[in-house]
Amino acid sequence: MEKANIDWGNIGFGYIKTDKRYVSDYKNGAWDEGRLTDDNQIVINECAGVLQYAQTCFEGLKAYTTEDGHIVCFRPDLNAERMIESCKRLEMPVFPKERFLDAVVKTVAANEAYVPPYGSGATLYIRPYMFGSSAVIGVKPAEEYQFRLFCTPVGPYFKGGVKPLTIRISDFDRAAPHGTGHIKAGLNYAMSLFAIVDAHEKGFDENMYLDAATRTKVEETGGANFIFVTKDGKVVTPKSGSILPSITRRSLMVVAKEYLGLEVEEREIYKDELKDMAECGLCGTAAVISPVGKINDHGTEICFPSGMTDMGPVTKKLYDTLTGIQMGRIKAPEGWICRIK
Ligand code: PLP
Ligand code: COI
Repeated sequence: MEKANIDWGNIGFGYIKTDKRYVSDYKNGAWDEGRLTDDNQIVINECAGVLQYAQTCFEGLKAYTTEDGHIVCFRPDLNAERMIESCKRLEMPVFPKERFLDAVVKTVAANEAYVPPYGSGATLYIRPYMFGSSAVIGVKPAEEYQFRLFCTPVGPYFKGGVKPLTIRISDFDRAAPHGTGHIKAGLNYAMSLFAIVDAHEKGFDENMYLDAATRTKVEETGGANFIFVTKDGKVVTPKSGSILPSITRRSLMVVAKEYLGLEVEEREIYKDELKDMAECGLCGTAAVISPVGKINDHGTEICFPSGMTDMGPVTKKLYDTLTGIQMGRIKAPEGWICRIK
C-alpha cells in the first residue's frame, strides 16, 4: 500500500481529509446498516438538535503502525463503552459496541494510506461522533441521529512535542457536580474555549480546572486527565465524578503497577498538595503523556523538581512503556490491542 504524500514528522494536531469516513443514520427508532463514503460534507436541517441545543457527543482514539508493520488501535472497546454512557446521558440512541468496533476497523482499513509509518512520530487519530440531526424547537431530544467516524493523521497535540508545559489554575469551572463532566459531550468543550483562548493569550499552555463545589481539589484540563508522582515515587491521579474517565489514565495506572512495580492511588488531590509533588503530567489520547513543568496559581509559581527541559524520570518510564505497548515493542495486557491489518 502506497502511503499518502505527507511530511509525517512535521504535521501538527490538525484535520487532514482522508479518503473514507463511516456514516450510519438513526430513523424510526433504528440504526441503518451503515456505509463508508467519500463525502466529508454534512447537510442537516437548520433546526437540528445538534445546532440548536448541542445534542452531540464524540470519542477519540488512535491507530498505530507497529514495529512489525501491522496496523492496530488501542482499547477501542473502552471508547465504545464510554460513548454509550455519553449517549445515555444526552438522551441519544446508543450505537452498539460491536457496530462501533466494526466502524473503527472498516474506516481505518479504508484509509491505510493515511496511517503514519512506524517511527514517524505521527499517528492516525480516529474521531467517532454522534449528533441529533432532525428538527427540534422545543427543548427535547431529536428523533433522528447520525453516527459518524472519520480519521486524520496527527502529530503532537502540544507544540514542542514532549517539552514540559506551563499551565495555570483556571478561575472558570469545567463541570458541575452531577453535571456532564464525566461524559464526552461537545458542550463541555464549547464552554472551555473562552478559558483556553484566554490562557493562550496569557502565555499558558492549558488550564487546570478545580472542583466547582469547593475549588480546592484538582480535576483535569480541558482535554486530558492529570497524573502526579509523589516524592516517594507513588503515582497518584485525581478521583472525581466530574472528570472524564480517561482511557489513557486508566491504562497508565495498570502500567505503573503491573509493568513498573509502582504504588498507585486514585484519590482526591488537593490544590495545596501540588507543591509537594515530584512530577506532573497530562494524559489522554491526544496528549499521550505531556509533562507539566510549572503551574501558575494566580501569580504564584509551583515548579516541579523535574524542571522545564525534560520529562521527569517516572513520567518518562510511563511514557516509554505505554507507547511501547501501543507500537508493539512491549507485550500488551490481554485485550488492549485491536489488530486491524
Ligand atoms: N479529559 C478530557 C476532558 C478529554 O477530552 C480527554 C480526551 O479524550 C481525556 C481526558 C483523555 O481521555 P482518553 O485518555 O480516553 O483519551
Ligand atoms: C482526545 O484526547 O482524544 C480528545 O478528545 C481531547 C481533545 C482535546 C482533542
